[in-house]
Amino acid sequence: MLDLPILSQPAVDIQTAPSNGLRVHVESYGCQMNTNDSEIVMGVMHANGYASATGPDDADVILLNTCAIRDNAEKKIHERLMHLKHYKKSNRDLVVGVLGCMAERLRVKLLDTKLVDLVVGPDEYRRVPELVDSAMGGERGIAVKLSRFETYDDIVPLRTDGVSAWTSIMRGCDKFCTFCVVPFTRGRERSRPLQSIVDETKGLWDSGFKEINLLGQNVNSYRDEVSGYDFSDLLAATARALPSMRIRYSTSHPQDMSDKLIDTMAEYDNICKHVHLPVQSGSNRILELMNRTYSVEHYIGRLERIKKAMPNCATTTDIITGFCTETEDDHLQTLELIRRIRYEGAYMFTYSPRENTKAWKMGDDVPDDVKSRRLTEIIEVQSEIARQINTREEGVTHDVLIDGPSKRDATHWKGRTDTNKIVVFTPLDATPCAVGDTVRVKIERTNKATLVGHMLAH
Ligand code: 5AD
Ligand code: SF4
Repeated sequence: MLDLPILSQPAVDIQTAPSNGLRVHVESYGCQMNTNDSEIVMGVMHANGYASATGPDDADVILLNTCAIRDNAEKKIHERLMHLKHYKKSNRDLVVGVLGCMAERLRVKLLDTKLVDLVVGPDEYRRVPELVDSAMGGERGIAVKLSRFETYDDIVPLRTDGVSAWTSIMRGCDKFCTFCVVPFTRGRERSRPLQSIVDETKGLWDSGFKEINLLGQNVNSYRDEVSGYDFSDLLAATARALPSMRIRYSTSHPQDMSDKLIDTMAEYDNICKHVHLPVQSGSNRILELMNRTYSVEHYIGRLERIKKAMPNCATTTDIITGFCTETEDDHLQTLELIRRIRYEGAYMFTYSPRENTKAWKMGDDVPDDVKSRRLTEIIEVQSEIARQINTREEGVTHDVLIDGPSKRDATHWKGRTDTNKIVVFTPLDATPCAVGDTVRVKIERTNKATLVGHMLAH
């Protein structure tokens, strides 16, 4: 077993930092890991005396926690930075920082505009306070070293109150799918110790959270280096320690979706019956070019195994259309796979070439209009399937964890099933309920995105 080295940076003392009177506003873009990273950054800032701003208007420091996965994600950040120019004009002391994957990818290039004062990659968040300090003294700074060990395990993320919490159990990715920038922006895979994650989950339960989302780019590569425990062991340990807490996870890789993991999910009622298993393409030729390391047949076999163990388990996926050399026939195979699997939901994207990836060198030979047309076809097929699957929910009863009032009608509540479907429902006058409660709801009608129903008496 490996001995983990002691981190060179001092652990942050959350309790004792006196207030410095300065306020920070963090904006998170991209994946859920960024949401949790922003909470980690706020944890670090609070420990160093900073308070939370109510928004960008009353902030002394604005940090954008960015995503680099597709070109349009980066365009959004450039637009936001242009907009922040106005804030800088009205407050000359305002410090603006770019954090996250785009910081790691573009590095000093981000300092070319006078607008950005600090650039910090995903493994250097402990240094944000020091770099903000320097920026206030007029010195712009950059910290983008990737680490083989940093997991921020000792940092307490600053979470806003809620029902559902996110926690990163591992960082980085070693898969090197040829289209993906993540192995370059987030570095090598490394995991937090199992016990520390279980303890954190206990603490979240004690402070009122009812659901935990265990996050990682590829959670089924999780491994506690000291004990050797794998992701199934972690799921089981968390489920056993908190039998009333809902436990979710994402994202998994089809190659590593083991029988042990599937059986662990099936064994514990509080592990939510939802698997997000990105397939990317329905063509073996394209999967090979993508270096996905599984075949369509293997993928279908995994989903059959999941459905056998958990017949009501919801499955969702990610699909990229228009990858290098993708033909009409490859595209038809993707549509066929979607029709065969019948996913509850999918995130669907056109391929966006990323510099330095292997696919970058393969060229980007599918014209934009073809990519868009294929994407539209995929979305249409998938939306119709989601609508049909939801129709079958009519008359079914679900346990719904309430996360707030309905946005459209405040007399209704909104929550999720354990299969991660959004439910809007009418409460019972006789049985008051509140955010964080789990109630029985009978579904009356549905559309492709939402189930609508009424609460049943306990
Ligand atoms: N272009 C389009 N989509 C991408 N994804 C990752 N890299 C790219 C890219 N270069 C998608 C994949 C992945 C999801 C998080 O983002 O589908 O599963
Ligand atoms: Fe990117 Fe592939 Fe790693 Fe997912 S598994 S983060 S798509 S390299």
